[in-house]
Amino acid sequence: MTDPHTTGRATLTRLADAEDLRTQLARDARVGLTARPRCLPPKYFYDARGSQLFEDITRLPEYYQTRTETAILERVVDDVVAAIAPAEIVELGSGASRKTRLLLTAMHRLGSGDRYVAFDVSEDAIREATDALCRDYPWLRVDGVVGDFDHHLADIPHGDERKLVAFLGSTIGNFHPDEHGRFLRDVAGSLRPGDGLLLGVDLVKDVAVLEAAYDDAAGVTAAFNRNVLEVLCRELGARIDVDAFTHVARYDAEHAWIEMLLRAERDVVIDIPSLGLSVPFAAGEHLRTEMSCKFTRERVEALFAGAGLTLRRWDTDERDYFAVVLGVPAD
Ligand code: SAH
Ligand code: AVI
Repeated sequence: MTDPHTTGRATLTRLADAEDLRTQLARDARVGLTARPRCLPPKYFYDARGSQLFEDITRLPEYYQTRTETAILERVVDDVVAAIAPAEIVELGSGASRKTRLLLTAMHRLGSGDRYVAFDVSEDAIREATDALCRDYPWLRVDGVVGDFDHHLADIPHGDERKLVAFLGSTIGNFHPDEHGRFLRDVAGSLRPGDGLLLGVDLVKDVAVLEAAYDDAAGVTAAFNRNVLEVLCRELGARIDVDAFTHVARYDAEHAWIEMLLRAERDVVIDIPSLGLSVPFAAGEHLRTEMSCKFTRERVEALFAGAGLTLRRWDTDERDYFAVVLGVPAD
């Protein structure tokens, strides 16, 4: 069989297609919109517009996460990559794969490998990112995989050689805390001795810093949040007065998470005729669209121990805003 990579293009594997995602959205909308409190899973933010809005968020002055994680990686990437010497890098929730470039360059410098697997629920994001990587890194074999963490982790195609799994950006924080352990156990279960997990986590800090990061002055996060209503309209034919909802971000210190909410500013109904669903919101009522958990070193150590991972490195910035953590399978 011809190696598809000789074409200089990325391969694209769909573990979920647009129809699967729509079916899942219909199910999640039915469950979440009829639950109390009302909620939707955050994975539906990331259509083409939402993925672009997220990229805009990463450049906002208030959103310290991306630039802080990038600076940590720039400092430690050679040591991290040398600790594993991966033949391939598999990235979960890869988005625009921008920070990944640091890892890929380090892998190339070390001469340990030449393969990158980008796994994300957003086909638009994968296509754009993998095309750009093929263009900029002709030596790299690039595989894009469209899938959902919740269903397809075990199905991500990978080679037999040593791998570094990267899960950056603190996207793990978008799972409910009850899910962190299970998720890490699943990822750890896919690692063999010698492999590694590189995890980015946003740390507990001053409330004002956290809340500003999710409620920027330019209103980009508000647009990102409300975009999920546009996704419901387009994908499910929902009828929603999007302007009736405003963006709210608040820190809950007890749970150590930021909640993103959409608040109905007046009595309003979300109608989804295709699901036979009509959901009234009273003025002031909230729809929770995302939680973004914040971590401590103790919490990460406990999660790693529960998942059968040994913490090999903990690298942070001088303000302790963000950490990049390397875990390896425990002996
Ligand atoms: N890793 C990048 C992007 C983070 S944004 C960074 O650090 O900047 C979160 C990414 O996770 C988005 O690209 C989104 O499409 C993806 N994502 C969210 N939920 C997902 C899910 N359930 N399964 C797979 N990917 C998901
Ligand atoms: C992708 N994820 C880690 C982001 C976060 O910070 O929780 C998504 C985001 N939501 C609002 N701003 C950014």
